[in-house]
Amino acid sequence: MASPDRFKAKKGLEGVVFDTTEVSHVVAEQKSLYYRGYPVHELAEQCDFEEVAYLLLYGELPTASELEAFVKSERAARELNPKLLEVLERFPAGGHPMDALRTAVSYLGMESEFAGADDSQSALEKGLSLTAKIPTIIAANQRLRRGKSVIAPRTDLSFSANFFHMCLGEVPEPEVVKAFDGSLTLYAEHGFNASTFTARVIVSTLSDLCGAVSGAIAALKGSLHGGANEAVMAVLKEIGSPENAEAWLADALATKKKIMGFGHRIYRNGDSRVPMMTHYRDQLAERYHGQGLVEISRVLEEGMVSQKKIYPNLDFPAGPAYHLMGFETDLFTPIFVMARVVGWTAHVAEQLADNRLVRPLAEYVGSQPRTVISLAERS
Ligand code: COA
Repeated sequence: MASPDRFKAKKGLEGVVFDTTEVSHVVAEQKSLYYRGYPVHELAEQCDFEEVAYLLLYGELPTASELEAFVKSERAARELNPKLLEVLERFPAGGHPMDALRTAVSYLGMESEFAGADDSQSALEKGLSLTAKIPTIIAANQRLRRGKSVIAPRTDLSFSANFFHMCLGEVPEPEVVKAFDGSLTLYAEHGFNASTFTARVIVSTLSDLCGAVSGAIAALKGSLHGGANEAVMAVLKEIGSPENAEAWLADALATKKKIMGFGHRIYRNGDSRVPMMTHYRDQLAERYHGQGLVEISRVLEEGMVSQKKIYPNLDFPAGPAYHLMGFETDLFTPIFVMARVVGWTAHVAEQLADNRLVRPLAEYVGSQPRTVISLAERS
């Protein structure tokens, strides 16, 4: 018996409008993205990540005194409970940093500061503290698994500069910090993408922010979503030098491989965030002699656009940019989390402000009703 039309599945929920949002607006036809009405490239150029985080969480860009109070709270919340550091020390050294981060956020959900179901207000308060702690977790876990000592956060450094300090023990030139900070702005929010949708579904059951963020981290890890920035780097390393790029692409297309960092469910003619991130990547390549990576990237981009009409997404320039900044490849997706936790929090607060349990239907394609036969008869 065929299902009536209202039970027909929409694979991947393509084209399904699941709820309203005021947080961001993706206008795919114009290749543009707005956070609370502001074009994302203007925010990346003119604002620090802390201002953008404030905008996403509270709906308006902060005044100087609002920003001062926000920055003060964020910096004061960076330290981890020593017990969490002990837990991090026990994680398997071979574990992926995204799994470590997901587990650490889950652990935080049991600390008194974070425990318990949330309303919009508590989600925003906890979200700010989580945003402050996530970089500390990422850096501490990475150093521990490399046998290095943990570097404590500094309260005199910006969100981005402090991350370099905790990971690498030094803060690079302001232009490099700016490129990193701008990349966080570009990564901070993007409508009802898979991880944000996950967070909203989880909290729609009246679960809590840490649960929603743990689930969102798991969703982001996949190579079709945030994990693509790592996967891009693996491709660039595999190609090795610009002379190999054309043949590699021809082979990949002939064997119908998915090329990581290309394509997007919503942007079919180009990703609004790519020009800005490509600019950062190229600036970094000049500074750190990364022309080879840029040339390989250009061959792939030209080939994909001319032969397949498939355009690069944000992960394509972000992967090599983070590599040039000195971060290990398996930190790229955790860095994405550092930024996106702000978007997730804004969405969790919005969901809770006008909540309805998310509960879609299924198109059933299994067996028709039948009668159970006893084990003896089946044998
Ligand atoms: N490389 C090669 N071909 C690709 C491609 C890629 N990166 N992305 C899409 N295509 C092709 C598909 O093979 C498909 O071709 P077909 O119609 O001949 O089968 C067509 O383009 C449509 O792609 P589809 O996978 O149906 O699109 P989607 O909306 O379901 O998926 C992505 C979107 C992002 C999952 C997909 O483009 C992808 O896997 N990209 C690589 C991973 C990535 O960079 N993810 C980060 C996203 S921000």
